[in-house]
Amino acid sequence: ASYAMQVGPFGYLVHLYYGARIEDGEALDYLAYTVSHASFSPRVEMTERFSKDTARLEYAGHGCGDYRGSSLMVRTDNGSAATDLRYVSHKIYGGKPTLPGMPATYATASEATTLELLCRDDATGVEVTLVYTVFEGNAAITRHAVVTNTGDRPVRVEKVMSACVDFHVASDMDFVHLYGDWAKERIFERAPLLHGTQSVGSRRGSSSHAHNPFVALVSHDATEQFGDAYGFNLVYSGNFIAEAELNIGGAARLQMGIHPEDFCWVLEGGESFYTPEMVMVYSSEGLGGMSRAFHRLYRQHLCRGKWKNIERPILINNWEATYFNFNEEKLLAIAKDAAELGIDMLVMDDGWFGKRDNDKSGLGDWFVNEKKLRGGLAPLSKNLHDLGMKFGIWFEPEMVSQDSDLYRAHPEWALQIPGRSMSIGRYQYVLDMSRADVRDYLFDCMKKIMDSAKIDYIKWDFNRNLSEVYSTLLDAEHQGEVFHRYVLGLYELLERLLTAYPDLLLEGCSGGGGRFDPAMLYYSPQIWTSDNSDAIERLDIQYGTSMCYPTSSMGAHVSASPNHQLYRSTSLELRGHVAMAGTFGYELDMTKMSAEERETVKRQCADYHKYYKVIHQGDLYRLISPYGDRTRCAWCYVSEDKSEALLTYVAIRCRVKDRFYVRLAGLDPDRFYREEASGTVLSGKVLMSGGWCIPETLFDKSSRVYHFVAES
Ligand code: DGJ
Repeated sequence: ASYAMQVGPFGYLVHLYYGARIEDGEALDYLAYTVSHASFSPRVEMTERFSKDTARLEYAGHGCGDYRGSSLMVRTDNGSAATDLRYVSHKIYGGKPTLPGMPATYATASEATTLELLCRDDATGVEVTLVYTVFEGNAAITRHAVVTNTGDRPVRVEKVMSACVDFHVASDMDFVHLYGDWAKERIFERAPLLHGTQSVGSRRGSSSHAHNPFVALVSHDATEQFGDAYGFNLVYSGNFIAEAELNIGGAARLQMGIHPEDFCWVLEGGESFYTPEMVMVYSSEGLGGMSRAFHRLYRQHLCRGKWKNIERPILINNWEATYFNFNEEKLLAIAKDAAELGIDMLVMDDGWFGKRDNDKSGLGDWFVNEKKLRGGLAPLSKNLHDLGMKFGIWFEPEMVSQDSDLYRAHPEWALQIPGRSMSIGRYQYVLDMSRADVRDYLFDCMKKIMDSAKIDYIKWDFNRNLSEVYSTLLDAEHQGEVFHRYVLGLYELLERLLTAYPDLLLEGCSGGGGRFDPAMLYYSPQIWTSDNSDAIERLDIQYGTSMCYPTSSMGAHVSASPNHQLYRSTSLELRGHVAMAGTFGYELDMTKMSAEERETVKRQCADYHKYYKVIHQGDLYRLISPYGDRTRCAWCYVSEDKSEALLTYVAIRCRVKDRFYVRLAGLDPDRFYREEASGTVLSGKVLMSGGWCIPETLFDKSSRVYHFVAES
């Protein structure tokens, strides 16, 4: 990709171009002079035709003649919130800076190059550093802004976007986003970009089920494989806004950042505020190319630690097997069967602590319930490790049940506004994560548990949104900071836990995938994608999630049939094939399986190991969308060297005399590939153009996996 800007008239940073790579960047200068001039748009000076309202800008000021959405509003002592930013200096260096207290992509000096542009608003003394990083071999650019108050009086930052991109042509574009709900996360939606502003966001305190912090602008003609696709993803887990504003001239401004509603940050003289990072990706290979660039970036430059590259354990989670009704014997019986079939880890879900036999009580009381687990966690952990299994447990650290010892002892630790009643969700309140004492309590509790037994994995859950957001520790001036301080507090606790236990595998969760964002992926390389474990519903959910999140990040389990959310019956084979398009596991009572089912599970576990590399490190090609006529769905993974491909085909609803061909993608057209089971050898060209003929007649809700290996 190429991204071009220049220092324009009066020192404004003028955006020129973002899109397909253009070697001769300077030739783009002419774009600066192609801006139209609207008569009601004020000029900077009468003698110059330059107007901030019509110019394309790298980062937009507020209140000084640019009437589009602004990037920065800073209120000063005199009550004005205007900003007018002009270029001061820049520097370029190898590598990538970190964002204090916030997750971000990372890279070494040889993997990335960073540009820092310093701009200044002379009237307020506010400076903004715009930070851009480009990565070797990946058309991804990351951006964030740092706002510094160089004066000696405090200012109030009321709006600060992570990035602004002024597209000079956008009237031929569609707006793509992922909306949803509990058990229906990240549904793909695409519609033409209309005049005016289209936006998605969250005011819920978390990135949320409702809208993901991802949007894309794609050309009307873009498909999975061709056309312009620009993807934007905010590395943040709290309130956000992503908006695209198309104007009469066909230009559009895309901005993303912390939601300005309920945000106001007091910046003392000499202090700086860092925005979250925004990742942007351009691909001329349509939505598929855009997704693959995100996937590679997140696998290599976002996920970190021990579990970044090594094979993740196949897990069995007891939630849908037992819900709250379990004890050590029950868990061990499930684990014993699971171990025999090749499953690597037992995850003990909600209900092992405090008084917790249902969701009405106990959160916050992180002490083992010895009625269920005699002698604490150590005996269970030892028994599991003796079986050759790892051991994982569930926590929901940010919450407190109304009926809990913690809430009785510290009601002030929950978010609340003095004089107002507190909204309650799932019988629980939200702890004020902006408070250090709350975080210390949580860390100490978790540490005691972690040190009491060998624990390899934690599922970190979060089951309601924030309300009455106010911190009893902060004064009135700083209450506008609480939403963001909550998120910073969450990151601090996660970082502390991982520093203390670097081998720990974290899996993020929020009533399924209610906090599935790149920031959480920095801490938890896998996230439970959805509480909806029905294989057919999962096709939609995983398709949407794959727009920017890699397969290795999506928790996907084989659950019981009929399914607990929809009561739909599906074959164990289909459930296995769909769950294998994620971090694989099971969530059912193994002890109730027939001998035949046990054999299938054994085979699925072996397949997971066999195909791990191509699925988790290969490139994903979405071939047939489940959103189309809803009769079928297909995708394939291709290894980086194109020597191997794995095709999954799902027949959702079949027709009489169905004969179907799936056109593969991503293969080497000139190599020959042998389909392992049938021995059929076909060239990459034939497989991609003629297609792979599904050789059997399939029935509703059935699936097949085909493994293609290049002939040497
Ligand atoms: C919501 C999660 O998404 C489920 O998987 C399970 O852990 C429950 N919470 C437990 O309360």
